[in-house]
Amino acid sequence: MKKTIILAIESSCDDTSAAVLCDGVLLSNTTASQAVHEEFGGVVPELASRAHQLNIVPVVDAALKRAGVSTDELSAIAFTRGPGLLGSLLVGTSFAKGLALAHNIPLVEVNHLQAHILAHFIEAKGNGVPNFPFLCLLVSGGNSQIVLVKSHYEMEIIGQTIDDAAGEAFDKCAKIMGLPYPGGPWIDRLAKEGNADAFAFAKPNIPGYNYSFSGLKTSFLYFLRDQLKDHPNFIEENKADLCASLQKTIIDILINKLKRAAKDLQITEIAVAGGVSANSGLRDALLDLGRRHRWTVHIPPFAYTTDNAAMVAQAGYYRYLKGDFCPIDAAPYAKTKI
Ligand code: KG4
Repeated sequence: MKKTIILAIESSCDDTSAAVLCDGVLLSNTTASQAVHEEFGGVVPELASRAHQLNIVPVVDAALKRAGVSTDELSAIAFTRGPGLLGSLLVGTSFAKGLALAHNIPLVEVNHLQAHILAHFIEAKGNGVPNFPFLCLLVSGGNSQIVLVKSHYEMEIIGQTIDDAAGEAFDKCAKIMGLPYPGGPWIDRLAKEGNADAFAFAKPNIPGYNYSFSGLKTSFLYFLRDQLKDHPNFIEENKADLCASLQKTIIDILINKLKRAAKDLQITEIAVAGGVSANSGLRDALLDLGRRHRWTVHIPPFAYTTDNAAMVAQAGYYRYLKGDFCPIDAAPYAKTKI
């Protein structure tokens, strides 16, 4: 029987990534990250799309070579249609369309957020794949959501941030402390050497399962501004404690709502996805939550937490199997629900 070979392309933000999946098995996953944004303390959209243009051909070429697959063998091209930065998405979308047209093969569109969740189905190890329905805490630089995952295709957002995302809270507070961008991994590293109870920051009181992180950022900013008046070296002298206390606050906020949602909906399988799921404190807190409530907790391998095309290939494969193809005139979108 003919094999189903999918080439997937991810270009929603500042990572250009390509992956090849054969009959559901990942053969390669290649990513070029963009260092060009570091000096600006955040992603500059125009620079991101230009870097995608430079990276896309070598990245796709490397993914195909590593997989030992030629473009003639491809069954379909899956691509991230959104949400993300429009200029960045345009590069991946246009490339996918061109290749699909040239080889007369179907195009499969993938929602970036669904792909993060479906990363749990790549090369399943350990606990195995999550059983439906499960709750997924989706936490990245642009999103913080609690998603009820009913199947590979059917997902419902039951709670989400009303302002900043959890990753943004990490990154913005890191910037206030003078740490490089993206600040999340820096805070994670420094927090390991600090006392998480050294300082207390404001926690929001938002109804339902929604989140808010902008108040925490402001509370952190004002606290430091007040301390710096009398102690100009306050940040330097307390960096590890500040990171540990801030990280603990963000994790408490995330876990409390997730716990409440799981109890209310009587769901006993929990997963986490998105860039912030790389955070070691969040991983430990989720595993602890699972132990205390006898819930099964699914943590994705590090390689599939930040943006990657392997998750796009996995999500695209499920759509391909349903014959869910996308028209050649499909435009990328910046914002969407799951
Ligand atoms: O999913 P992602 O790669 O990109 C999108 O936002 O789509 O997530 C990036 C976010 C950034 O905010 C980054 O600071 C955060 O994930 N992040 C972390 C860690 N690693 C990445 N935040 C906390 N701890 C980490 N170890």
